[in-house]
Amino acid sequence: MNRGAISELFERRFNQIPEIIVRAPGRINLIGEHTDYNNGFVLPAAIGQSVWVAVSRNKGSDHHFYAENYDAWFKTGELTPVTDTGLRWANYPLGALDELRNEGYETGGLNMVIGGDVPPGAGLSSSAALISAVIVAVDGLIGAGLSRPHMARLAQGAENNFVGMQCGIMDMFASLLGKRDHVLRLDCRNLDYVYSPFPDDEYRLLLLDSGVKHQLVDSEYNTRRKECEAGVEILRRYHPETGSLRDVTPEMVRAHAGAMPENVYKRCLFVTGENNRVQAVCEALENGNMDLVGELMYQSHDGLRDLYEVCVEETNFLTASMRGIATGARQMGGGFGGCTINLVKKSVPEEAIQGVASAYFERFGIKMRVLPVEISEGAHIL
Ligand code: GLA
Repeated sequence: MNRGAISELFERRFNQIPEIIVRAPGRINLIGEHTDYNNGFVLPAAIGQSVWVAVSRNKGSDHHFYAENYDAWFKTGELTPVTDTGLRWANYPLGALDELRNEGYETGGLNMVIGGDVPPGAGLSSSAALISAVIVAVDGLIGAGLSRPHMARLAQGAENNFVGMQCGIMDMFASLLGKRDHVLRLDCRNLDYVYSPFPDDEYRLLLLDSGVKHQLVDSEYNTRRKECEAGVEILRRYHPETGSLRDVTPEMVRAHAGAMPENVYKRCLFVTGENNRVQAVCEALENGNMDLVGELMYQSHDGLRDLYEVCVEETNFLTASMRGIATGARQMGGGFGGCTINLVKKSVPEEAIQGVASAYFERFGIKMRVLPVEISEGAHIL
C-alpha cells in the first residue's frame, strides 16, 4: 500500500478525493509481555507492516466504511447492535469515533477506506493500528491538536469500552509513538518513555508466524488480568501500599506463596520477573550486550510457558528450535499462538531458518511464515 494506491481506491469507492490519508504501523515487542495492564514496563517498536486509512467528511451523519482486505462495506444505521454483526473490523473505527465523541470531538458522517498489510491474528496488533489510524485522521481533519499519549489513551479506551477487549496500552502507544530504528521503553504506570537504538548493523529481528490462533485468546487474556488483580488484593494484606504488581518484587511474591492460589502465585511471579527483565534488557542494550538481551528473551518465553501459561505447543517448538540459531527467541503478544520474535545475527544463514520451517511443517503440517521486521516511524499523516 502507498499514498497513491489508497487515494485511488478511495476515489473509486466514493467518487470523492480523500481529505486525509494516514499510515499507522503494527508493532513488535522485544520483551515485557503482560506487564502493560499491570502498570509495568514494555519494550515495543513500530514496524513497516501498516494499516492505511483514507478519510473524508460526507456532509451526512452516517459513516460509510470500506475494508479493502475483506472487500466489505459497513454503513452505520444498517446494522445494530454493531458488536453482533460479525464485522469485527468495523468495530475498531466505530470505537475510535465513539471515544473521540465522548470527549467532544465530533466529525459528522465519514467516508473511509481501510487497507494495509498487517496480517490479522498474527499478534502484530492490526486492531490497535486501525484504531490509531482513525484517531490520527480525525485529529488531523478537525484540528483537535491531541497529544500522542492522549491519543493512545483514547485508542485503548476504544478497545476496552467498545470492542470489549481489556488490553493494556502497549500496542497503540507503539503504533502512535514508534521511532525508526528504535525500541521504546514505556513505563505503563505514568506513560514515561525513552527510546533505545536497535543495533541493526549486526542483528535483525525476524517473526516466525506459527499460523496458530486460538479463539481462547480474548477470554484467557481477561482471566489473566483478573488473576493478577487477585494477586494484588492478597499482597495488599501484607503490604498495604501495593497499588499494582509494579510495586511488587518476585521475592515478595515468593514470601507469600502460601497465601495465594497456585495460578495466582504463578501469574504474579511471571509479571514481577518480566518487569525486571525489561529493565535488564534496556541496560544490556545500552552496554551492547546482545547475548544477555537474547538470554532474557528465552527466559521470558519460559515464564510465559510455565508460569503465565499462555503458550502453545507450536510456539514452544519454534522457540526451542531457534536455540543455537537465534541469539534470543520467545512467543510475542497476548499468547496462544501468533508469532515468535527472534533476535538473529545477520551472519546466520537463511538455510538455518528454512531448516526450522521444514521441521515445523513435518511436525505440525503448517507452513511457517517468516516475516522480516523493519523498525519504522509511528503513525503519520501523508
Ligand atoms: C496484547 C494486548 C497488549 C498486551 C499484550 C501482552 O497484545 O493487546 O496490551 O497486554 O497482549 O503483553
